[in-house]
Amino acid sequence: MKITVMENEKKFDEAAAWRIIGQILEKPDAVIGFSTGQTTGNMHAIVSEIYGLHPFDTSQVTFFNVDELVGLPRSYEGSCYAMIKRQLCIPLGIPEERFIMPGTMDIDFEQECRWFEGEISKRGGADLQMLGIGWNGHIGINQPGTPFGSNTQVCDMDERFEAKVRRETEVPENRRLGGLTLGIKTIMHTKKIVLIAKGKEKAEIIKKAVQGPVTEAIPASVLQLHPDCEVLLDADAASLL
Ligand code: GLP
Repeated sequence: MKITVMENEKKFDEAAAWRIIGQILEKPDAVIGFSTGQTTGNMHAIVSEIYGLHPFDTSQVTFFNVDELVGLPRSYEGSCYAMIKRQLCIPLGIPEERFIMPGTMDIDFEQECRWFEGEISKRGGADLQMLGIGWNGHIGINQPGTPFGSNTQVCDMDERFEAKVRRETEVPENRRLGGLTLGIKTIMHTKKIVLIAKGKEKAEIIKKAVQGPVTEAIPASVLQLHPDCEVLLDADAASLL
């Protein structure tokens, strides 16, 4: 793993934005996976801002998000579809056919998982995955204990996140919510991964993921085995390394 530490949050956001732009400039037909959440909002805004000032060729790139919420309509503004569409696809002019996202409701999810993986591999596989990390080491929505050999699947959200989604939506109590996530094996097949984290609250899990043993108890620790993984951090997230 290559570890890059930026001195503050702003420089971290800029560096992460340039990882995305750099991939598009290097390979105009790149297939790029994103993550949603607090870590990625600013970096996506910077990508859009730079594109607005100095447009680069996005006519062949394909975007997807590593995971999606299921049991809620895509129109929920916290759905990954809605967030990436708003933050990147609309500003960069990426049409629906080059934005691969699984459906979220009233479908055969097993089939949808195979479709999602198939659409990525049909295009030659993902070139870059900008990968967030959860407070407990989850990547995508692969929670601690998920086998490293897992394929794309629907699983439970972590409970803190589910509580937040329920607060923000009118979803009935008895409706099961979940997350459709690329599997750990699928993520490991990405050619290049950039694990991104900022803020003090990520420092402890980053230490475990990067310097601790490779264990299914910390899903992100598997990235130590990836041949081309960069861990991009701000000084706070790197403070325990
Ligand atoms: C959620 C998402 C992940 C994301 C993680 C970290 O679990 N499903 O894809 O990486 O949160 O989010 P944040 O950046 O808000 O800490």
